[in-house]
Parts: sequence; C-alpha cells; structure tokens
Amino acid sequence: MFDNKTILITGGTGSFGKKYVKTLLERYKPKKIIVFSRDELKQFEMQQEYDAPCMRYFIGDVRDKDRLRRAMRGVDFVIHAAALKQVPAAEYNPMECIKTNINGAENVIEAALDNDVKKVIALSTDKAANPINLYGATKLASDKLFVAANNIAGGHKTTFSVVRYGNVVCSRGSVVPIFQKFIDEGRDHIPITHDEMTRFWISLQQGVDFVLKNFERMLGGEIFVPKIPSIRITDLAKAMAPNTPIKIIGIRPGEKLHEIMCPADLSFDTFEFEDHFVIAPGIKFSSRTNQFTTNALGESGKPVQPGYEYNSLKNPHYLSIEEIAEFNLRALK
Ligand SMILES: NC(=O)c1ccc[n+]([C@@H]2O[C@H](COP(=O)([O-])OP(=O)(O)OC[C@H]3O[C@@H](n4cnc5c(N)ncnc54)[C@H](OP(=O)(O)O)[C@@H]3O)[C@@H](O)[C@H]2O)c1
Repeated sequence: MFDNKTILITGGTGSFGKKYVKTLLERYKPKKIIVFSRDELKQFEMQQEYDAPCMRYFIGDVRDKDRLRRAMRGVDFVIHAAALKQVPAAEYNPMECIKTNINGAENVIEAALDNDVKKVIALSTDKAANPINLYGATKLASDKLFVAANNIAGGHKTTFSVVRYGNVVCSRGSVVPIFQKFIDEGRDHIPITHDEMTRFWISLQQGVDFVLKNFERMLGGEIFVPKIPSIRITDLAKAMAPNTPIKIIGIRPGEKLHEIMCPADLSFDTFEFEDHFVIAPGIKFSSRTNQFTTNALGESGKPVQPGYEYNSLKNPHYLSIEEIAEFNLRALK
C-alpha cells in the first residue's frame, strides 16, 4: 500500500514517528517519507539514523497552516502524530496545548484537503475518552475535528480516521523510563500515585502496526481502538524492581485511576471486531451510507452490548508480573 507513495508524518521525530519511519523503510519502498516537526536537533539526530534517499526532513510547526500546506504537496498519506502530550504541562499551559493539539489538527485537515491527500490518520489517546484533563480534552476535540472533516471533504477525495490507544511502553516521558531512572539512581522506593491504578499497555511496534493496518481498513470517520492488555501499576513496579518497596504519593492533577478507550455512552456507536473496536461517528455523513459494521477489507464487526465500556479496570486481559517483565523487554527491542 505504501510502495511508491509519499507519506508525511507530523511529529516524525517522536517515539511513534521514528518507529513508524523505521517500519515503513523495512517493509515498503516508499517514494518519499516526509518528517514534519519543529526541533532541528531532533531532526539532525534522526537524519544520522535514517538517511535513505526517500527521506525528507521538513522543519515546521503544525500551528503554521501555510508551512503544512507546502509540506503536503504531492503527499498520498498523512499520519498526524505531533502533539503536546504531558498531562501536567497541559494543565499549566492550557493555551499552548490548545494551539498545538486543536488548532494544529484543524491545520492538518485543511492542508490535507487543499492537497487532495488520499488518507489521513490522526493519533488519539485513551485520555480523550471522557476526558478529565486538558490534554485529553484537546485530543477529544482533535478527534471530533478529524471525524467531521469527512463531511467537509465534499468535492475532495480525502478520508480521515482516528486511531486511539493507551500507554505506550517506554515512550518519551512515560512511566517505564521514569521508574528505570529511579532504579538506576538506587532510590530506596518506587513512588506510585495510587495502589489501585490500572493502565492499558501497548508496545510502539503494536501501535505502528495497528496504524498501518487501519490505512487499509478505513472508510473515513471511524475511531479505531485496539484490543490490548491492562496492567496494574503496582505490578509494573514489582516487575521492574522486585526488591524495592513502593511508596504511595497521591494521585496527580488530571490523572485517572483507570483509563477508558470506548465510553459506555458511545456503546450504541461501538462495534467489536476480532482484534479491535470501531467507534462509528455519531453524525451522519452527507455523502456516505456505510454503517461501519464492515470495513474496507471486508472484515465484519458486531454491535457491543448497550452500556458496554472498554476500560483498563474491567478489561478481561491483564498481564501478570512475569508477563509485564517479558512484554517490556520485547518492547525495548
Ligand atoms: N506515548 C504514548 O503513551 C501515547 C499514547 C497514546 C497516544 N499517543 C499519541 O501519539 C502521538 C505521538 O506520541 P509520541 O509518544 O510519539 O510523542 P513524542 O515522542 O513526544 O513526539 C511528539 C512529536 O511531535 C512533535 N511536535 C510537538 N509539537 C509540535 C508542533 N507544534 N508542530 C510540529 N511538531 C510538533 C515533536 O517534535 P518537535 O518537538 O521537534 O516539534 C515530536 O516529533 C501523540 O499524538 C500522542 O498524543 C501517545
């Protein structure tokens, strides 16, 4: 699907972006891969690692529509990964988060429409489901923009979908590198905000593979949610430092005890497929009649029970302490 195609990835120097580029280069023969992000140093460092002839590096900010419009000339597929994503930073700097995550999303949509990009997938997060923090709220707004963009695409062929998943093991600023730092420093305890906390758990490669697959599955307007395991944060600490005591330090502002990916209130629009869920758009698209029970690959899903919620607490699939240790090791490769 990506052979001889031009792919642009906003936030291409981030954890997801680098893995995505690596995977594209390993599995396909793209015409061009365009990395779009702000920081020249991150791009310089990435260039040392990924210097294939098809690689292009664009300095740009998703807040700058003109720059995005220029970067998307001749582009077939866009993955929108650029975001401000640290929960506390968003609480303290709300307008910065709004400008990047919401205004940036709108700019990506308009630039894609103006350039007749074929397909766009935007990355979302479990924090966007019933959000309680600004980061989640901006990602929910972004999700809504991408879903509705399929309606304003009249006359254009661009389709937009969203991929939503949970905690990516070992991504920048996430819990595993933080715990590892404490362990390396020889601290006498691992700080945990709440002993009942659970999280969804996904590796970067799983996230990348899911996004790649959904470019084939998408009709436009869906939120794709993978079925992934949950972990208890206390089990993660035990897996990483079995002999170090845990200290409970209290829940942080904007932090949830458990995460949700498919909210109960949207159960009437949620369909269960073999390895994922689809949240269909609540709005009707003027030019489309598909009910989202069958995707572009012909895979079929069933409506979930009314009131069904896919959350990290009630998830039937939990990793044991041993499985977490193994999972993290694999994820680091
Ligand atoms: N990591 C997770 O656990 C997780 C879970 C669920 C969903 N997600 C979502 O997945 C996406 C990627 O996450 P990640 O972990 O790869 O994040 P990351 O490692 O922090 O990377 C973010 C990327 O976005 C770029 N960026 C930030 N602001 C930008 C702007 N205004 N204009 C252009 N580029 C900008 C950054 O580069 P510069 O700073 O150089 O611009 C960087 O390349 C995000 O949308 C995030 O919400 C992540």
